[in-house]
Amino acid sequence: MSEKNEGNKMEKIVSFCKRRGFVFPSSEIYGGFTAVYDYGSYGVELAKNIKEAWWKAIVQKNENIVGLDSSIFMHPKVWEASGHVGGFSDPLVECKQCHTRSRVDHLLEDVGVFADEKMTEEEINKLLNENKDKIKCPKCGTKGNFSEAKNFNLLVQSNLGNFTGDWGKGPAYLRGETCQGIYVNFKNILDSTRMKVPFGIAQIGKSFRNEITARQFIFRKREFEQMEFQYFVHPDDEMKEYEKWREKRWQYYLDLGIKEDNLKWHEHENLVFYAKAAWDIDYKFPFGFKELEGVHARGDYDLTQHTKHSGQKLEYRDPKTNKTYVPHIVETSAGVDRTFLAVLTDAYKEEKMKDGTERVVLKIPKKLAPIKVAIFPLLKNKPELVKKAKEIYASLKGGYMCEFDDNGNIGKRYRRQDEIGTPLCVTVDFDTLEDDTVTIRDRDTMKQERVKTEELEEYFEKELK
Ligand code: GAP
Repeated sequence: MSEKNEGNKMEKIVSFCKRRGFVFPSSEIYGGFTAVYDYGSYGVELAKNIKEAWWKAIVQKNENIVGLDSSIFMHPKVWEASGHVGGFSDPLVECKQCHTRSRVDHLLEDVGVFADEKMTEEEINKLLNENKDKIKCPKCGTKGNFSEAKNFNLLVQSNLGNFTGDWGKGPAYLRGETCQGIYVNFKNILDSTRMKVPFGIAQIGKSFRNEITARQFIFRKREFEQMEFQYFVHPDDEMKEYEKWREKRWQYYLDLGIKEDNLKWHEHENLVFYAKAAWDIDYKFPFGFKELEGVHARGDYDLTQHTKHSGQKLEYRDPKTNKTYVPHIVETSAGVDRTFLAVLTDAYKEEKMKDGTERVVLKIPKKLAPIKVAIFPLLKNKPELVKKAKEIYASLKGGYMCEFDDNGNIGKRYRRQDEIGTPLCVTVDFDTLEDDTVTIRDRDTMKQERVKTEELEEYFEKELK
């Protein structure tokens, strides 16, 4: 078999995700809801496996890192202290022709001009004016007919706990990033565990941002999931620990099965005043290299800000020296949805078979595959085959996500499982009834072998670990 040229891969992945139950547009029967998506029955398994792999690498395998599940809603002052109320914004322009709103930094990027997210409105308007004649509205194509750029705050507001009917009055925000829950629980974790600096707190959860441009599928959502980890270190050790975590996070993606050629480091051009270093791991999505994860040395900014705004001291007393200090933070911040898209981009293949037929196959790492084993009776209308296949399904389903399928011919069933990335298929045929062996077929090589049913557990243990 040979790999086909996949043409427009992004379009193919989007349509594949819908067709095979990985990702659906939210509220589709009402026409969808911009930049919000639902995970279907295979998608939810893949997302769960991605989260489990991250949790295992960060929490389970490190004795000095613990987990947390903080709430989506937090005291509104959290977002003042963090700087989100004042400065968490993207520059927005409106096309005067069709009134489409776009992010100016993205429009500038499209014509090869770099605009930093930390630029002031004045600086970004200067760049916009200088390049006006080159920039087109992405919707109607009109060139250079834009309003002035204005910074638009990305925090999503709610009326939680506000019964006045006035939405503008003291809004409670949906969290814009999960790490704020970690900072405000720093003292609780210190007091309730035996953690000593250096130690880390990890959390996976939903975040919300009023993203202006909704494009690139699940890459930029308004409701998305983050896997964030904050490592609290002595100030003198910050850069040493930072370099360690940079290495570990790179290796993590290789261990996850992502191809190294599709990854690259990207250093932030302009650092925020408190940061010591900021690098992103970019992945080669079908629309180019874009951020998958940020790895940042944040100094003592976060704990100091929350100390100032809450009046509670967020510091650490070293039990050996008895000296008190504010730990510095190394942060690694990854997206579930972007990892999901990266994994699919790496795995999605169209292959031409020797017999001229074609197949779509998801060559996804086994540990991430939504279904690990599919079990088929050769024929649906032979009760003895169905009975045996169901027995095997029942014996395996406690250990692995399995699927029983008796619909259509065997070739079609293999293709269906190839498409969703199932590593192994088990077929029960007439020989099974004679010698108690089954056929096991491998997704990638399509090779088949006979295995005794009593050895199946051991076989999968070895093959699927
Ligand atoms: N606490 C740091 C922080 O939130 P960020 O670069 O804004 O940093 C971290 O976000 C990660 O969260 C990104 O690398 C990306 O994987 C994910 N992410 C951010 N915005 C997203 C969005 N609108 N849709 C999907 N994932 C997003």
